[in-house]
Amino acid sequence: MKLERELALEIVRVTELAAIASAPWMGLGEKNSADNDATEAMRAMFETVSMQGTVVIGEGEMDEAPMLYIGEKVGNGSGLEVDVAVDPLEGTELVAMGLNNAMSVVAVANKGNMLHAPDMYMEKLAVGPLLKGKLSITDEIEDTLTKAADILNKPLNEVTVMILDRKRHAELIARLRKLGVRIKFLAAGDVAGAIAPSFPETGIDLYLGSGGAPEGVLAAAALQCLGGELQGRLMPEDDEQEQRCLSMGLTNPRAVLSMTDMIGTDDVIFAATGVTPGEFLGGVRYLSEQRAETHSIVMRAKTRTIRFIKSIHDLTVKPYFQKNGS
Ligand code: FBP
Repeated sequence: MKLERELALEIVRVTELAAIASAPWMGLGEKNSADNDATEAMRAMFETVSMQGTVVIGEGEMDEAPMLYIGEKVGNGSGLEVDVAVDPLEGTELVAMGLNNAMSVVAVANKGNMLHAPDMYMEKLAVGPLLKGKLSITDEIEDTLTKAADILNKPLNEVTVMILDRKRHAELIARLRKLGVRIKFLAAGDVAGAIAPSFPETGIDLYLGSGGAPEGVLAAAALQCLGGELQGRLMPEDDEQEQRCLSMGLTNPRAVLSMTDMIGTDDVIFAATGVTPGEFLGGVRYLSEQRAETHSIVMRAKTRTIRFIKSIHDLTVKPYFQKNGS
């Protein structure tokens, strides 16, 4: 059974509401409050969506997250059985610090088609359609970038790489600098980072480095719709993480994960709404008369339709739009 196309528009209402709920926390230094409000709003809106969803990527395990925990049922109980991956606020710190690239994200696929990624780091290589299928995460970075520059028909110093600004990337960054490629650093929010190369107007050619594994699967869902590619490799750091992979059925935890390993179908829907401005989405913008404007993207891999949706919301209509209910 294929996903109903109407589901795409229902899903974007969910990310819109979560974005509106978290945006008032911008710059206030309270990432947990921003995340909680996004999660509550998302959970409430899911109740209106026609699906029998199970959260496979969410806010945590059942005992550590009150809402949108892994295994939680979401949707109004009608419609198809689907896997749901959520990040009500991707980039909690970004909102808290008033920085770019925070967004609210949901991906939905037919049941059984999304990797249940454990909460640990994943090494990632993400590219847009031009480089899809042409590079390998197992190659040395120097070879990867030389090959990419060749295919893109430009010199290395015109290739732009995006990477999270983290100490753990020091060696990789040194090698990138030696090669002479341009680097655009991300403070956080690597779902947006991994998607960026699929939008030529961002000027970003490749996304590299390690970030969260659940975020990797969310980005893979988006790239399935955009014709891009993400290759990943889990990075279990100790015995416990290793065991967690094994107990989740990942018999070789360090194996390269392809798009098919992460999203096993082309029947996937991805929606995101910007909370703060980003590479390809505007953030929540406040207008006169207690209105807010949101910028979203919603895509279906099956038809490769990519919709950018700008919406105006009346903040007086739904009380949970207001921070602290004020
Ligand atoms: P949160 O939204 O949970 O704060 O995650 C933000 C994020 O930047 C992700 O996009 C990324 O995958 C991960 O954190 C990177 O982790 P770290 O900050 O430990 O490098």
